[in-house]
Amino acid sequence: PHTSKWKVWTKEDVKRTFPKRKPGSHKGTFGNGLIIAGTDEMPGAAILCSLAAKRSGIGKLTVAASRFVSGIIASRLPECVFLHDGLEKIADGQLPNKMTAVAIGPGLPSNETVDAAAAQMMKTDLPLIIDAGALIKRHYPKRDAPIILTPHPGEFQKMTEIPVADFQKNRIQIAVDFARENGVILVLKGRNTVIAFPDGEARINTAGNAGLAKGGSGDSLTGIMLAFVSSYKDVKAAVSNAVYFHAACADYWKETRAETTMLASDLNETMPYVMKEFE
Ligand code: APR
Ligand code: MG
Repeated sequence: PHTSKWKVWTKEDVKRTFPKRKPGSHKGTFGNGLIIAGTDEMPGAAILCSLAAKRSGIGKLTVAASRFVSGIIASRLPECVFLHDGLEKIADGQLPNKMTAVAIGPGLPSNETVDAAAAQMMKTDLPLIIDAGALIKRHYPKRDAPIILTPHPGEFQKMTEIPVADFQKNRIQIAVDFARENGVILVLKGRNTVIAFPDGEARINTAGNAGLAKGGSGDSLTGIMLAFVSSYKDVKAAVSNAVYFHAACADYWKETRAETTMLASDLNETMPYVMKEFE
């Protein structure tokens, strides 16, 4: 019944929608992000996500993680603060104050505590990015602030019970239908990532390369997206540009180095050069 309208989200679109950092701005201008991520066995996801968020311009960042994970992050990234055992506290309804946007899921398992924390965050009026372990089959509440889901094909299969082989043939339409029916922004990842909005619009990212096909690159995307959602007025542009910059960082690496050798953390090293063209 619904036909989707879609377009490739180009470099020109990014240039047109990239917000200028005003000389008189202060850290509050760029948001106060919260990342709920990482376990003692998967601390790296929280590190990659936090690094990417800070590199992508977020004003302030709090990471909800165990003391162990917090200690590792602090030694790599002195710029953020911590909510110890934050996942458990948030699942229990103890939410930190003054946040402006939240990301949950990188490096987390799919279990009751993670689901309870996601449910608590969905009750708030904060823009919310749901990734990795926090992606399950569930109902999404009607709310004013956006909910952004960032599954790879395997996670989308888990969320919808549609086999990967079935939706990959028709992924734009399926992504648009899902976004419209659930009232969420869906970022269906992989080569030619589809970004589908609840109003039926879809944007396709054609940048990026197989150097991104490595554990950890999705965690970096979530961090970039949190920073942009926290600091842009236009959430559609924030999500689209996050997908673009993540991919463009991989393409920049590939200009002079073998894509095989790129690490997810290298995206943070190339971001300063990639973003320079837009600032
Ligand atoms: N071409 C272009 N882009 C690609 C390609 C490709 N061939 N392969 C992957 N990508 C991009 C995807 O579009 C996406 O943005 O790389 C990113 C990979 O994201 P994920 O699949 O989420 O990868 P990963 O970082 O490994 O996720 C790890 O998931 O299992 C959980 O908790 C775990 O947080 C951890 C996370
Ligand atoms: Mg992932």
